Amino acid sequence: MPRIALVGPGAIGGLVAAWLCQDDSNQVTVCARTPIRCLEVETPDGMIEALPTILTQPEQGLIVDWILVATKAYDSDSAAAWFHDLLDEDTRVAILQNGVDHVERFAQYLPAERILPVVVDCPTERVEPERIRQRGPVTLVVPESDIGGAFTELFARTDIDATTDTDFVTVAWRKLCINAAGAVNALTLEPARIAHSPHAELVMRKLVLEAVAVGRAEGANLNDAIADEVVEIYQNQPGDSVNSLLADRLAARPMEIDLRNGVIVRLGHRNGISTPFNEMAVALLKSVT
Ligand SMILES: NC(=O)c1ccc[n+]([C@@H]2O[C@H](COP(=O)([O-])OP(=O)(O)OC[C@H]3O[C@@H](n4cnc5c(N)ncnc54)[C@H](OP(=O)(O)O)[C@@H]3O)[C@@H](O)[C@H]2O)c1
Repeated sequence: MPRIALVGPGAIGGLVAAWLCQDDSNQVTVCARTPIRCLEVETPDGMIEALPTILTQPEQGLIVDWILVATKAYDSDSAAAWFHDLLDEDTRVAILQNGVDHVERFAQYLPAERILPVVVDCPTERVEPERIRQRGPVTLVVPESDIGGAFTELFARTDIDATTDTDFVTVAWRKLCINAAGAVNALTLEPARIAHSPHAELVMRKLVLEAVAVGRAEGANLNDAIADEVVEIYQNQPGDSVNSLLADRLAARPMEIDLRNGVIVRLGHRNGISTPFNEMAVALLKSVT
């Protein structure tokens, strides 16, 4: 029976924990910052409920096989504070966060080969502390490897589609291209409809093309046409749809700026590629936080 600890039961973490609990062969503990009693998920096919063990303080002696981290990236260090009591030398840690630098984010806490980056795709939101709305299918993609295969096994008897990919670098950078363009929404304080403005569309394209150039240098298989795809994705969203960067800014929470745009600037520097649009987005968003 896999022993699993899920750190950060928000939109993604709560959803994943609730689905893992639907399979009796998983033993799930949820590590929460804000106390909750249960998890409820409104899925497109009906409600699922789960009553995992829920902790709000680390508990000694609770070693697990897997830790799944699903906090926002800016809470990574506080998420890692749970590790001490959960980890032994066989525990693997899956990072269910956006971005392309999951392993670097946690490498100070355990050996890189035990850290698994996960690309999450699922439109979902937390409507109350214990209730999550899942608006469509959930996919999790991890690198093709022994640890990647073991991770997908955890979801074999759930409705979550967890798969491995031999070109995970490209998968992660494609997702980053979409997220990088979302800086326009946080900068303008406008939801998805802003993508129909030719001025905003131009900035979105520039943000994405810089990501494409840096991603290619990092080994991703990307072409410039992705800039058109990304603009189309935003233009096809309901006009009032709010991405998480904008939602965080509107709620005066920290923003995942580093994960979405800062990383493009940083890796651009490493590869001698200039990224002025992303650099400006990062500077402006940091100036308002
Ligand atoms: N939501 C989406 O549709 C979506 C889709 C794809 C990828 N992602 C990515 O998935 C990651 C998680 O996003 P999210 O939308 O699920 O965030 P979220 O709804 O804000 O959930 C984050 C959760 O982490 C908890 N948390 C923070 N610090 C903690 C700590 N030290 N210990 C335990 N729990 C802690 C928060 O607790 P509180 O209840 O106290 O706030 C909250 O429950 C992000 O990297 C995001 O970019 C999200």
